[in-house]
Amino acid sequence: MQTNNTSPPLKVDKLTVHRSGKLVLEDVCITINRGEFVGLVGPNGGGKTTFILTILGLLKSKKGSIELYGHKKPSNSIFRKLGWVSQHASNIPENVKLTVRELVQLGTVNSSNMFWRFSSEQNAKVDYAIELAGLQRFRDRNVSKLSGGQRQRAVIARVLASEAEFILLDEPLVGIDRESRNTLLKFLDNLCHEAQKTILMISHDIAAIQQASHRMIFLEERIRYDGASDCFPDLSKLADLRGIKSVHESNEFENRLYQLEDMRKK
Ligand SMILES: Nc1ncnc2c1ncn2[C@@H]1O[C@H](COP(=O)(O)OP(=O)(O)O)[C@@H](O)[C@H]1O
Ligand SMILES: [Mg+2]
Repeated sequence: MQTNNTSPPLKVDKLTVHRSGKLVLEDVCITINRGEFVGLVGPNGGGKTTFILTILGLLKSKKGSIELYGHKKPSNSIFRKLGWVSQHASNIPENVKLTVRELVQLGTVNSSNMFWRFSSEQNAKVDYAIELAGLQRFRDRNVSKLSGGQRQRAVIARVLASEAEFILLDEPLVGIDRESRNTLLKFLDNLCHEAQKTILMISHDIAAIQQASHRMIFLEERIRYDGASDCFPDLSKLADLRGIKSVHESNEFENRLYQLEDMRKK
């Protein structure tokens, strides 16, 4: 089957997912176009990771459809366009002795070339990915010796060295300092503008993702907001969208009770 070049990387329609019998996602409709940098935010347990795992085909949906690059039944070559950086991908144990270059090289290994020596084409992809991630100086350094932000860029470089065009990141900003976070966000933004990648990034750091992304989606079982990052609602508007009522709002019934109590005392 031919890939239609104009098809969006992701088109999800009325997606409903249950986990252990509990409703986690309901009627989720999202289309993500090429070159977009989309921030996926929402409360803990809101279904963000579930959404990504379902797109990747790791969880089954109860209802709805998912199209990847125009394909409802994606082949392996379509799945290879997806690069997933899982939540703890950069937590590489200290006893794993792997240089940055070796880690990134792993991104080029797939079922059709795993028993061959690295080709010059693979090596060129690795060098390019390391350069994009700004890690040339660290290419021979052990990954466990990198800072949190550098390690996060290294695991993203591994995905870049593959054929991935649509990169899905689950909480890549956790545990990294402010400066590294800004470098990482700039790097991701450049990937969309200069390397024509599409990014869907989960983060609980709303302020950071609002600065970097073009569009934000707030997911809490259902989509509560989907629009330009600049127009992302403030806290009180967000509470409205989530159906949360202010506990400080004046309550007429309570006020009346206090008045009666006062009158009784007098
Ligand atoms: N392995 C699992 N089995 C059953 N339910 C799960 C599992 N992982 C997560 N859940 C439930 O799915 C819901 C959504 O979780 P998740 O997608 O991880 O949310 P988020 O990534 O937004 O924090 C939560 O209610 C959570 O308890
Ligand atoms: Mg999660």
